[in-house]
Amino acid sequence: MRVGWLAPLLWIGAVHGATVPEPDLALAEHNYQQHCQQCHGVNRIGGAGPALLPQSLSRIKPNEIREVITNGRPASQMAAFGTVLAPAQIDGLTHHLQRPPAVEPTWSEDDTRRSHRLLADVASLPDKPQHHADPLNLFVVVEAGDHHVDIVDGDRFEVLARFASHFALHGGPKFSPDGRFVYFASRDGWISLYDLHNLTLIAEVRAGLNTRNLAVSKDGRWVLVGNTLPGNVVVLDARDLSLVKTVATVGLDGQPSRVSAVYTAPPRNSFIVALKDVKEVWELSTGPHPDFVPRRIEAEDYLDDFSFSPDYRQLLATSRKAQGGQVIDLDTGRIVTDIALPGMPHLGSGTYWKRDGHWVFATPNISKGLISVIDFDTWKVIQQIPTLGPGFFLRSHVNSRYAWTDVFFGPDNDAIHLIDKQTLEIAHTLRPMPGKTAAHVEFTRDGRYLLLSIWDTDGALIVYDSHTLKEIKRLPMNKPSGKYNVGNKIEFAEGTSH
Ligand code: HEC
Repeated sequence: MRVGWLAPLLWIGAVHGATVPEPDLALAEHNYQQHCQQCHGVNRIGGAGPALLPQSLSRIKPNEIREVITNGRPASQMAAFGTVLAPAQIDGLTHHLQRPPAVEPTWSEDDTRRSHRLLADVASLPDKPQHHADPLNLFVVVEAGDHHVDIVDGDRFEVLARFASHFALHGGPKFSPDGRFVYFASRDGWISLYDLHNLTLIAEVRAGLNTRNLAVSKDGRWVLVGNTLPGNVVVLDARDLSLVKTVATVGLDGQPSRVSAVYTAPPRNSFIVALKDVKEVWELSTGPHPDFVPRRIEAEDYLDDFSFSPDYRQLLATSRKAQGGQVIDLDTGRIVTDIALPGMPHLGSGTYWKRDGHWVFATPNISKGLISVIDFDTWKVIQQIPTLGPGFFLRSHVNSRYAWTDVFFGPDNDAIHLIDKQTLEIAHTLRPMPGKTAAHVEFTRDGRYLLLSIWDTDGALIVYDSHTLKEIKRLPMNKPSGKYNVGNKIEFAEGTSH
């Protein structure tokens, strides 16, 4: 893992070092236009292939970029260029793609409007489920390996429908309040609306060039998209994804900002917008006649990763200054307290449950093998649970004795820990498929079963009985990442992500 993290730095160091000549960028641009532009678009904003901007490639290591260009990607239009281009030319392209284009790419409201496509007429579709599964116990499963989505019957554990999504879905799909519609955001800004009653796509729009995630308002009328490129939030009509309003995310001091994430806060009837480059949190009311003018909450620090108290009165955010978490009152904007947490807590994946009548909040940590448990009344850390390595997700259900967490990073990434929610100790460690990353669980609506991902090209969705911990079924899938239970999501059930 060490080498993996360091590789990009070493490579950039080598390129910028005095002894290694800079690749010829003019030649790289020429090669791009000749060999890549037809799919990846003028100015690299994407087309049949994904966008290739620095923002788009931020999660990929330079070595992987070089490897994709050389060998292509199986079962996709991305061909191998190892026989067409010399290694030095491929290095040049690799370097080129990580730099911003000479002309900054833009995406206007007109671009958004022009990209809008209606694929089906909702009014003419039946408004009752056209399948025999329980509509509130469906799972939406993202297969990241080949960019597909599965709709899975949560009682029989069978796939009802499978369809291609846009490249790299991001941030978790969100549902309409009745659970009929689901909304997806892709890395490159494509928003899709899918009808779970009729198992069909309804509409699509490209709302930006690089998107963080989306949220759906409590009343189901509005979709809010948070973008990093351009830095803005985009309000769409939830019925057909037509554009309603764009709000540039600019701080009070005029500084433009990327969006870290957008959330819906149902008890407040609002959207919460976390900004990355200015010390502000925004709240957009979604009451009866919303104007989508932000209420600005000025923070004392840059806030990255978020979670909320169960009543949405307080915000828990990672803060660089507090070296851990900071609790902010959403009404007054005041800092309630700092919570010192070691490493890099992943608050957005944290979850809460009741223990001896008190709410506790537990968060995984992406740089340390540790689950931190915090008491919601006192905001004190009451337990640090050591794990086999840094983890990414933590999930539970009101009817489950355990909170399930993964060991996403390091040699033990095939392990899953089950934490006893009362004793706060690891009760079981499972290795569902030795040698393959196990991650992210989601429970059925009643909490009796859960689905776990084997995050691998030759991966699977494994169904467990949440009480006996016996495996019930295994569905082969290509890098299944997130999975989302309609009922748990629309009820904002305890233990799942929001
Ligand atoms: C015929 C269309 C096509 C052409 C031409 C093409 N690509 Fe691609 N490229 C794709 C598609 C489609 C993908 C997505 C593959 C997948 O599903 O992972 C892709 C993926 C990539 C990726 C990985 C992106 C990511 O985020 O994972 C890189 C890097 C890339 N292409 C670079 C290039 C370069 C450089 C060239 C020119 C030398 C090029 N491509 C030419 C279609 C194309």
